[in-house]
Amino acid sequence: MCGIVGYVGDRECKELLLTGLERLEYRGYDSAGIALVNGSIDVTRRVGRVQMLRDAVGDGSHPATLGLAHTRWATHGGVTESNAHPIEACDGSGVTAVHNGIIENYVQLRTRLLEQGHQFHTDTDSEVISHLVEEHYDGDLVEAVRLAYNELHGHFAFAVIHRDHPNEILAARRQCPLVVGVGDGETFMASAIPAFMSETRRVQYVLDDEIVVATPEGATFLTGEGDVIERPIEHVDWDESAAEKQGYETFMLKEIHEQPDAIAETIGERLYHGELQLDGLNLDEQQIRELSRVVILACGTAYHAGLIGRYLLEEWARIPSESDIASEWRYRRPVIDERTLVIAVSQSGETIDTIAAMKEARAHGAHVLAVTNVMGSQATRDCDSVLYTRAGLEVGVAASKTFTSQVVLMYLLALKLGIVRGTIDATRAETLLAQVRALPELAQQTLDRGHLVEPIADRFWESEFFLYLGRYIGLPIALEGALKLKEISYIPTDAYAAGEMKHGPIALLDDSTPVVVIATDNHVYEKVLSNIQEVRARGAHVIAVATEGNTRIEELAEYVLYLPRTEPELQAALAILPLQQLAYAIAKRRGLDIDKPRNLAKTVTVE
Ligand code: AGP
Repeated sequence: MCGIVGYVGDRECKELLLTGLERLEYRGYDSAGIALVNGSIDVTRRVGRVQMLRDAVGDGSHPATLGLAHTRWATHGGVTESNAHPIEACDGSGVTAVHNGIIENYVQLRTRLLEQGHQFHTDTDSEVISHLVEEHYDGDLVEAVRLAYNELHGHFAFAVIHRDHPNEILAARRQCPLVVGVGDGETFMASAIPAFMSETRRVQYVLDDEIVVATPEGATFLTGEGDVIERPIEHVDWDESAAEKQGYETFMLKEIHEQPDAIAETIGERLYHGELQLDGLNLDEQQIRELSRVVILACGTAYHAGLIGRYLLEEWARIPSESDIASEWRYRRPVIDERTLVIAVSQSGETIDTIAAMKEARAHGAHVLAVTNVMGSQATRDCDSVLYTRAGLEVGVAASKTFTSQVVLMYLLALKLGIVRGTIDATRAETLLAQVRALPELAQQTLDRGHLVEPIADRFWESEFFLYLGRYIGLPIALEGALKLKEISYIPTDAYAAGEMKHGPIALLDDSTPVVVIATDNHVYEKVLSNIQEVRARGAHVIAVATEGNTRIEELAEYVLYLPRTEPELQAALAILPLQQLAYAIAKRRGLDIDKPRNLAKTVTVE
């Protein structure tokens, strides 16, 4: 998730762009850059926060009245100055661009453009945009951008300027946010309203599959075929804080609703036209076939995602797998060797217990794969392979979109290993891959039902205890759902294997206890229904997360939160969504600081 800012008008724009970037740093800040057009294009890029860029360009004025700026959250290509945006096309072309999102077919496009003689100078997916525009440019910048846009597949927004077009910014979006700020004799383009809200509150929203031509006189909206679209100008009355959260009341709520995007970007070009490619997994097919076991290490929410990975690695890759809490594992005497794959899951890539466990694993000769959300984090330096979730910056202390992104990466990894090891039927793999591809849409459908948790929160927000139950991949979801509630509502909560409840925790139940049960459609569904009967016999109140069509559960549960139907294993990525929304609704009723819960830190760098 990166930040784009553009300006075209009658004022010097350097300071306007830098200020706009600073207002978008919540979208990502591992590098930043600015391009200023004044007969030529002056481009400055720096690793680090926008302040580093500001220091580099200095306080002096710059005559440019056209420019682009960008703050990066790296997904493709390391955190380096050369990979920072804006990214030019070939030397002397006069084209430069900024991009947010994923170009899923960038490998194919890059190959073709290289064959056409283009010189690439970054290892990003974004650079193909600049060279595509250059390739199509014959004096008509609008047509060049339109043709380039129509060749791109993926989940993105981008903006382009050209040295010879001092009064135009071209931009386009497909699923990633882009908004136009309408001034008097000037026009802004940005990923989010905060970038220009101090200059104008008149906005025009760019919708999916639209191309925008911004000039000092305003913006023209086009379809991919070049037809003009009328777009009303709206007025926003957000305060600065609300604007930073895109209008959501908290960062966590924004991030809960960013999950379809985060899942889509995590899948990205890794699954394209049915082909599954995990660049960053530095194991060849022989090494994958020779793996004797997998150990997944993590803390907190990441541990819960790792638990799901364990089930699927056994199920699809038929490889003995275990998942352990990093702070426990590092003090065992683990039996691992060079045929062990250790997967360290950490969204921050800085959790000290996980980092220490990684070092311990490497000392034993294991191949260590880091699964993290932050390029350049410590975990990426202490590993042999790295796979990035692409959830974008997560500000809320309670993890949401990073969890679902981790789960999706577990799906892709387990499928990849199963396909290489020949342990998963090809037709089954094809079905699963197609359903993984559908997860962003299924997640959106699930989030759209969020209002159904409100009556549940109304009834139970003052409860003094919740119990969460699940079996199989429902158990990690029960654990994660319980953690969300604990973290942001401070309600004592327990989560247990549903089959284990009768061995003790059932003593906790009485006729006031709300019990959340993960009862999605899979081979243990009937067993879970029996467990629900046990809960009801104690008078407790059952809130079930179930799969559409399994209506019999309505005879047993007082509340049923249905998920769209998909493959049983993939339901886990959806089942957590209503539980995030339920925890949020309860915490909100309790009037708590949801983004900054007491006693918690976003990254735990102490033991
Ligand atoms: C998640 O909601 C918690 N904030 C916490 O458990 C977190 O998952 C844990 O500290 C691990 O963090 P990491 O993914 O950055 O390693």
